[in-house]
Amino acid sequence: MTSTTSPDPIARRLQTVQHLITSGKLSEAAERLNGVAKTAPKDPRVYLLGMRLGEAAGNPQRAEEAARRAVELEPTWPVAVTEYAALLARQGRFDEALQHGRRAVALDPNNPQVLARMVDVAHDALQIDLATQWLQQLVNLVPQNSGMKLLLATDLRRTGRHDEALTRYDELIAAEPGNNAALLGRAQAWHAKGDDKAALADCATLLDREPQNEEYKFLRALASGETPPSQPAAVVKQLFDPVAYSFDDHMVRGLRYRLPKQVAGLIQGKYPDLKLNVLDLGCGTGLLGVCLGRIQGALVGVDLSEAMTAQAAGHKVYDRFHHVNVLDALAETPAAIYDVIAALDVFIYVGDLTAAIPDAHRILVPGGHLIFSCETAAEDGPQLVLQPTGRYAHKRSHVEALCRSAGFADLSIEDCDLRLEQGQRLQGFLVVARKAS
Ligand SMILES: C[S@@+](CC[C@H](N)C(=O)[O-])C[C@H]1O[C@@H](n2cnc3c(N)ncnc32)[C@H](O)[C@@H]1O
Repeated sequence: MTSTTSPDPIARRLQTVQHLITSGKLSEAAERLNGVAKTAPKDPRVYLLGMRLGEAAGNPQRAEEAARRAVELEPTWPVAVTEYAALLARQGRFDEALQHGRRAVALDPNNPQVLARMVDVAHDALQIDLATQWLQQLVNLVPQNSGMKLLLATDLRRTGRHDEALTRYDELIAAEPGNNAALLGRAQAWHAKGDDKAALADCATLLDREPQNEEYKFLRALASGETPPSQPAAVVKQLFDPVAYSFDDHMVRGLRYRLPKQVAGLIQGKYPDLKLNVLDLGCGTGLLGVCLGRIQGALVGVDLSEAMTAQAAGHKVYDRFHHVNVLDALAETPAAIYDVIAALDVFIYVGDLTAAIPDAHRILVPGGHLIFSCETAAEDGPQLVLQPTGRYAHKRSHVEALCRSAGFADLSIEDCDLRLEQGQRLQGFLVVARKAS
């Protein structure tokens, strides 16, 4: 907020309210905002601030009503429509958000702020083609904005438009040879296009500049045809931070992901009084916690993506979160703490389980259970495969051997459909391993 004095007395009063909201003085903000609303009941800015206040007070319904009122008062004001669209996206109402987003862009197609906000909405809604279209418009308006150009190149790459992405990366690197993000993106685009020689040349430049960078080393290994043992934290975060808002809707409704429900049922069957401590590795948005409900012990989530756990925290069933690598969490937890350790749809990013499974065995109480899912790798191939999807598949016999050598004698491994992938059922297996009492 600026401290410049405005000739508009309503704007000055609204600035004060905004300041009160930012400082957490919500009752005072509400009182003052009611005062402004009495003076200017038809000013949509009052309601946009009402929306902020509603959100700050944790009242999404109030926030939505206020934003809707702002749009009703000034239906052709792009700011109100933009704010309303962004709010709907934050509330996970993506169809409506995009409908209003399209209207905001139509109202003011040459406004970079509106376009930038709507690109965020399209990203949150996982509508990458639409985001790309708006980014193209935005880059034409502000060609000097290298951040937006990089986003455009990334979206083009993510949607398989490698040649267009490469052109954008080339432009960025020509203008700014030290732009490592553009160089990394170009290397990823070369690798995705199948030109690993070009990818390796860019990786070499990057590693000259930052020899210890895990992300660069990971890409170099991929481009060299090797299987790196694990995905670096930066790769995981880039994958999940942007999809946190839409993850549940996309996975559960779109891809028919049922594992959390199934595993919650399994846990409830084994611990009917729900007196247990649970460690949820790669807890994401907390689907397992939601399906499990409140338990009579600790439910602890581990996840690298703070955006994902922010969604999980909203369900108010987790006691705490640790934003660390699953492997570090397992290595550093003292022995005999948890009754259940769950790792659903996460070892596909963790990769090598050689340390994870013995660590899990150590930190379980006697009689405790380790429950995890894997994607299936062919039995006649390597133990661990990094697939073109970027996810690991594990050989079932290898996972079984790891569990047995860690000391899990009581072991069940069932084939299962994990979810849909491009309309097809994705094959995996669910492991339930019990530590001896
Ligand atoms: C596909 S989601 C699954 C989330 C949740 N378990 C579920 O079943 O809905 C994978 C989650 O694991 C997290 N993740 C992946 N690799 C990780 C690692 N090495 N350490 C911690 N979290 C990781 C991601 O951030 C993401 O939230």
